[in-house]
Amino acid sequence: MQVIEHDQVRSRDAHRALWRDQRVHLRTAVPGPRSRELREREDEHIAPGLQGYALLSGVAIESGFGSSLVDVDGNVLLDFIGGIGVGSLGHSHPAVVGAITRQAARLSVGAFTTQPRVDLAERVADHAPRRELHRLQLYTSGAEAVESALRLAKSATGKHEVVSFWGGFHGKTLGAMSLLGSSAKSGVGPLAPGGHQIPYADCYRCPMSLRHPSCGLACVEIGRKQLKAASGGSIAAFIVEPVQGTAGNVAPPDDFLPAIRDLANEHGALLIADEMITGFGRTGRYWGVDHSGAMPDIVTLGKAFGGGFPLTGILTTDAIARAAPWSNASGSSSSYGGNPLGAAAGAATLAAIDSEGLVENAGRVGAAMLRELEAFVDDYPFVGHVGGRGLMLGIDLVRDKATRAPLSASSSLRIFKESLRRGLLTMSYAPRLRLQPALTIDSATAANGIAILREVFDWAKADGFWRDA
Ligand SMILES: Cc1ncc(COP(=O)(O)O)c(C=O)c1O
Repeated sequence: MQVIEHDQVRSRDAHRALWRDQRVHLRTAVPGPRSRELREREDEHIAPGLQGYALLSGVAIESGFGSSLVDVDGNVLLDFIGGIGVGSLGHSHPAVVGAITRQAARLSVGAFTTQPRVDLAERVADHAPRRELHRLQLYTSGAEAVESALRLAKSATGKHEVVSFWGGFHGKTLGAMSLLGSSAKSGVGPLAPGGHQIPYADCYRCPMSLRHPSCGLACVEIGRKQLKAASGGSIAAFIVEPVQGTAGNVAPPDDFLPAIRDLANEHGALLIADEMITGFGRTGRYWGVDHSGAMPDIVTLGKAFGGGFPLTGILTTDAIARAAPWSNASGSSSSYGGNPLGAAAGAATLAAIDSEGLVENAGRVGAAMLRELEAFVDDYPFVGHVGGRGLMLGIDLVRDKATRAPLSASSSLRIFKESLRRGLLTMSYAPRLRLQPALTIDSATAANGIAILREVFDWAKADGFWRDA
């Protein structure tokens, strides 16, 4: 294995070499001694609850290039987590680095109109899922954008109930937590009133053990009946992820979102597509909703949007955006929303997504990865199902294919640690393993990562620990 010296990593030539060579290079165990030392110092003061992959990996990162991360011990790791969808252009893309650097030297404070914000709004409008959805408001976190979408839906409809989905995740502020379709919200109540949760089309884990399409979307029918029984007749919005991320990169069948659109119409409610992860090409189309043609009234944007800079937003129509109090002066704004740095980073990111053909790349490389991973279902007794769209892929790890009982948390963690030991970062610490590398990843790098995953799965198959409850 080629060894890259730590100082050499900082040199220009080594940078260029790493951009070409997106491979793992290890010089110490992972995490190495410098990582462990920094983590120990950080643990003295940092609060618990960091993102799982950062916490469990134990690595401290020095720099990144495309799909490679260089830790403080000089190990070059392959990153298939990609900041859970934030890293659209990969690490340190020159377009984003240049845009932020130039903008920081000019102006970084204030909500005034700037050239980058005009460019950004025009670029987003050019790609809107439909022409009318061109009205943009900007924020800095996904949860903040979701809260704004909820406030807007209430302003526009005069109603207050909100429908979300089993397995759904929309952030950790109070309104967003109230939408959460999992038990992770227990202990933080009382949550916002007026919330309803109905089943998502998670076909591998169908709660009725049916099969699509012969099920006739029974999950939507159950949702319809549930709302009839539970709603107070004041539903403002349905909020749905076109592919569920936190649930495990779960792609529903194409007729699911149109059926939810119909259900929203039956209630005179708006449809919010939470495109936080799926937007900007992640699924191989510009928007997650593009696969089904279901038209939302509000779209939430984030993660990939800023190429690493905290930039989020919502898109809607003129008619909806006019609704007060959301539309009052300072009614939909925030201190950092649309700030010059974020706008510059976003405009540069969207330009690169277009000029580098990254939507097509996500579709092509993602399809190749999916084909390779599908073979895992036959090759490994603990791989129950592989799915997802574009570069948003999920693997269901099970300890029994017949019952579909999920792999235990400790077995998943062993797979995560073994991948890390071999230099591959994936979200394999949960039994629904998630992969979402940068949209810039090339076929060879994707194949390198999958080859490492194969080595890890061969090791797990031989060991047999995956059977443990
Ligand atoms: C679909 C979806 N919506 C909203 C959010 C919240 O975004 P943030 O963590 O930036 O608040 C996330 C975060 O993972 C998400 O996946």
